[in-house]
Amino acid sequence: MKSVLEFQKKQSLGDPISMVTCYDTWSARIINDSGIDCILVGDSASMVMHGFPSTVHADVEMMAAHVRAVAKGAPDKFVVGDIPFLAHRKGIKPLMDTVECLMKAGAHSVKLEGAQGHLEEVSHIVESGVPVMGHLGLTPQSVNQLGGFKVQGKGKETARAILEDAVALEKAGCFSIVLECIPAPLAKEITDALTIPTIGIGSGADTSGQVLVLHDLLGMDPSFKPKFVRRYLDGYGLIKDAIDRFDADVKQRDFPVKKESFV
Ligand code: KIV
Repeated sequence: MKSVLEFQKKQSLGDPISMVTCYDTWSARIINDSGIDCILVGDSASMVMHGFPSTVHADVEMMAAHVRAVAKGAPDKFVVGDIPFLAHRKGIKPLMDTVECLMKAGAHSVKLEGAQGHLEEVSHIVESGVPVMGHLGLTPQSVNQLGGFKVQGKGKETARAILEDAVALEKAGCFSIVLECIPAPLAKEITDALTIPTIGIGSGADTSGQVLVLHDLLGMDPSFKPKFVRRYLDGYGLIKDAIDRFDADVKQRDFPVKKESFV
């Protein structure tokens, strides 16, 4: 997928949209050769790539560097760049500087969390020619207010608020909305209420598409096993085994052999 128009096309055909996160060139190259529709350069980079405890630690420079790396490796994919913590809450000028920075780094659209208090900003970005993906439910940048990485919208009031925010984001011009960790029936209700596609993570099967963090689906962290992740690989085990075999070969003087040496 190369264009924002294809999201709507897939939505009208009822074709599921697949999205994965990516932060670097070498994995972007692999995704570029895969059937995945869309790449999210998520602010989860701050946790996955930089070892911070939350996405609060991502900033514009960090996100732009990852977008640049991904855009180089995945020239055939639609790339979404995450607006980092508070960058959309400091006024229009710093927000638009952030948007400009991510788009010039190679993103085709931006994603931002939440709705309340920045719907006008969303419209302003869209009116400036930049597609915006919304993000509701568990919005990890608000982890300190939410009291942890918890399922959102379990109660009647909070479910209604998320639904209303989704409708407001569509009205503000979003082309798609990520629904993170909300009950499956609520995700279905929201998806049915919108004309734009929803992309779920931990929100059941009835969204228009699904997204996972690449490192989660590849099993890169054996200690991280949330209910909603399906692991397609024991990436940690396979990579550790390769590194251990190299280590053993070096120590047994089995590497390099003659054909791996210049004569
Ligand atoms: O930053 C991220 O990886 C995300 C996904 C979890 C949707 O926002």
